Amino acid sequence: MAKRKRGTAKEPREVPAQLHDRVRPPVGVVLGSPAELAHLVKALALAEPLTCHQMDLFPAGRLREELGEAVRVVTSADLWDLPPDFQTLIYLPARSGERELKIDMVEQAFHVLRPHGQLLVWSPYEMDAFFPALLKKIFGRVHSYFTGNDTVLACHRNGERPRRRHEVTFQVRVAGGPSCRFLSRPGVFSYGRFDDGARALMESVTIAPGERVLDLGCGCGTNGVFAAQHTGPEGHIAFVDSNLRAVALAEHNARANGVASFEAIATTRVEGLPEGSFDVVLANPPYYAHGAIARLFIERGRKMLKPGGRFHLVTRQPNEVGTVMAEEFDSLEAEERRGYVILSSS
Ligand SMILES: C[S@@+](CC[C@H](N)C(=O)[O-])C[C@H]1O[C@@H](n2cnc3c(N)ncnc32)[C@H](O)[C@@H]1O
Repeated sequence: MAKRKRGTAKEPREVPAQLHDRVRPPVGVVLGSPAELAHLVKALALAEPLTCHQMDLFPAGRLREELGEAVRVVTSADLWDLPPDFQTLIYLPARSGERELKIDMVEQAFHVLRPHGQLLVWSPYEMDAFFPALLKKIFGRVHSYFTGNDTVLACHRNGERPRRRHEVTFQVRVAGGPSCRFLSRPGVFSYGRFDDGARALMESVTIAPGERVLDLGCGCGTNGVFAAQHTGPEGHIAFVDSNLRAVALAEHNARANGVASFEAIATTRVEGLPEGSFDVVLANPPYYAHGAIARLFIERGRKMLKPGGRFHLVTRQPNEVGTVMAEEFDSLEAEERRGYVILSSS
């Protein structure tokens, strides 16, 4: 038998026969990168389009662009918001992805399968040690196939089980201010804790009563909620993220912490808000995508500011990010705090 190819970042993994043979429509795919999904869709070549569920609008948009009518892309904060109508669900967990997100997705997958529908987990690990026990706990029985390069795990929905939400609440204060409680969920940065970079940012910025603040890439909304302690009831906070679960959490956390005036918007290009209308933009951009998101935040963030407005960004890559900020703004200041650099421009 020909040896299967081991996938690399550039070259997708060959779809194992154990997966091919088991797929029965209607088929859904849980998460997965656009490149992996494009490869899977082509390899399965199903008669009807499969449904791809994404929590983040960015990969969802890329999937629509790349695969067109070969897929039906659905986005929501929760997989189990979809009708329980799948005969097969394929889950493509990320290599070294977040453990809690894997648990949450498997739990949610159970609830969107038809009776006796099957979940197939296509793990990138040669001998996956994590999923068998998890699937056994939630589905009762699991079959594992080790292909030599990766693992396919198969299990069926039998009966019912109560929905178990995976979430953690944490309580924090910044610089001696009032303490706030935040709800966090897997798949949203930074699950169960207040990020040190975010803390450094919020300790360093000065925000005045009545100001309009944009929390750009808000995650569960910590920074905007702390900004509201300074803006007071006359101010306004806009929470923006591409991840629908993040936006839902930011909305929940703003309300739960008594933010008087706010909006929460899901967008990938910082759209849907009036340009030139914010006094302050706060950003803690992710490091993936080779700085492309930091650049997007800087370029779009500048456009969102009123004349004289302030842009504050926390990073561990001050040289790369500082260069982009210097291209966009007239001034640039840097402050080191907690192992991070806060770059400020106006
Ligand atoms: C490092 S996290 C920061 C979260 C939070 N502001 C904090 O400081 O803890 C970066 C956030 O940017 C979001 N993000 C990534 N790309 C985005 C885009 N194109 N538009 C809006 N948000 C994006 C991610 O979903 C994530 O929530």
